[in-house]
Amino acid sequence: MQPEDFVEACRACRAAGGTPHEVALIVRRALAALAAHPAAWETDALLHRADDLLIANVTLPPHAGSAAHEHATWAVIGVACGREVEHFFVERDGRLEPFGEVEVGPGETVVLAEDSIHAITNPLGQPARGLHVYGTDLHVTPRRMWDPRSGAPRAFELETFERWEQAITAARRERAQRSAAV
Ligand SMILES: [Fe+2]
Repeated sequence: MQPEDFVEACRACRAAGGTPHEVALIVRRALAALAAHPAAWETDALLHRADDLLIANVTLPPHAGSAAHEHATWAVIGVACGREVEHFFVERDGRLEPFGEVEVGPGETVVLAEDSIHAITNPLGQPARGLHVYGTDLHVTPRRMWDPRSGAPRAFELETFERWEQAITAARRERAQRSAAV
């Protein structure tokens, strides 16, 4: 399966009213193709963007970590190489409480519900390559992100989210280096 075949299969699935779990089946086939022929897939690219479907080829740097955020739609997260941990939260009295984790390994997918709030981490010192599919155009859909220091929610905005991501990743790398040195 080539990237364009993957996009076409996801589009056809959506057009036919396919569920996120059906999309996940397509993602798993694409993950196998990506793992077998990584050079055929760009390292980090937006593969498709439409009102009802966003498909991204995502590479998480070593020890990467994100702030908590929501997508306001379903999501399928798949990993081809490396690992990605989904840290889930629930909102209670205006605050986020941890609500479990799922570690996704090579060839595996996880389907996130429309009301999911998560943060992600790469637990390893190597990049994690994967495919993410969302049921809306995340770039224009109103949604929230949570300040990692204050825990306060605010409207999602990419520049700040990326700045938080860089700070979280730098701190996680430093911790990993310190524990490796002990
Ligand atoms: Fe996410």
